[in-house]
Amino acid sequence: MGFPVHGETPLKFLIYGRTGWIGGLLGSLCRAQQIPFEYGSGRLENRASLQADIAAVKPTHVFNAAGVTGRPNVDWCESHKVDTIRTNVVGTLTLADVCLHNHLLLLNYATGCIFEYDSAHPLASGIGFNEHDSPNFTASFYSKTKAMVEDLLRNYDNVCTLRVRMPISSDLSNPRNFITKITRYEKVVDIPNSMTVLDELLPISIEMAKRNLTGIWNFTNPGVVSHNEILEMYREYVDPDFTWTNFTLEEQAKVIVAPRSNNELDAGKLKKEFPQLLSIKDSLIQYVFKPNQRAQL
Ligand SMILES: NC(=O)c1ccc[n+]([C@@H]2O[C@H](COP(=O)([O-])OP(=O)(O)OC[C@H]3O[C@@H](n4cnc5c(N)ncnc54)[C@H](OP(=O)(O)O)[C@@H]3O)[C@@H](O)[C@H]2O)c1
Repeated sequence: MGFPVHGETPLKFLIYGRTGWIGGLLGSLCRAQQIPFEYGSGRLENRASLQADIAAVKPTHVFNAAGVTGRPNVDWCESHKVDTIRTNVVGTLTLADVCLHNHLLLLNYATGCIFEYDSAHPLASGIGFNEHDSPNFTASFYSKTKAMVEDLLRNYDNVCTLRVRMPISSDLSNPRNFITKITRYEKVVDIPNSMTVLDELLPISIEMAKRNLTGIWNFTNPGVVSHNEILEMYREYVDPDFTWTNFTLEEQAKVIVAPRSNNELDAGKLKKEFPQLLSIKDSLIQYVFKPNQRAQL
């Protein structure tokens, strides 16, 4: 569904998340595509500061790549519940509401970590959760609040919710990159999951803004890939000497605070809008592993 807002007005993006991973990448992409943009300086939970940003920047679209994800990981949210609510709930809803008030489309980088495999969507079945499914994973505080916000944002027809999962980029030195994380863990589980290759999908989100798309979107590459499949690719393309050790979900539970979500999202809606979208394994090879391939001897 399109949101008829800016007509023929030249594009101008307002982006929240200047110091963040996704927000930083988004700014670089806008620069490369020569799309005028400014980063918001307001705090999400402060309505007046958002209104001031909009008045100063006069954007055609707003992108929200601001949020708390926790450092070093989402376990932080378990012990910082009010801080998590302030940004991810109060802040995100405030931004959506201010954008609505200003007739602006908001592209919101949300999360797909609000589902877990269940009997109707079993692991390795190829049956993924779609955009109409209600979240079934609330075992971590981060996911619980993100699920609540997604549900509330369904009522805002100016919002495009992008369900990002286990984001991956071609920068293998970035500790936030899922590949970098699992190559550095002492032990890894091995579970197929839907994932988001940012190098392919962030440009698509810019195109979604240009098309004024709204609603909920599974923002992942089609299909699933397991931890071991990624590590095998890593060994093949990057480090032939790389080794790793697996452990079970039960063993993993002993070294983390909150349970983690594992799921497959059905990327059919996104693939229909963008038929060129690559499967997760092809995208990993094209956008991540080939550019990082070790020099052939
Ligand atoms: N990385 C992941 O694994 C992942 C996966 C799925 C979805 N997502 C979602 O994608 C979004 C961006 O993720 P990311 O990995 O790029 O996060 P990130 O690197 O941690 O960056 C978060 C950004 O949000 C800003 N921020 C935090 N609280 C704010 C507030 N109250 N008002 C304004 N700005 C605020 C931070 O700025 P300050 O430093 O100034 O606070 C920072 O620029 C998040 O909502 C996250 O939930 C991420």
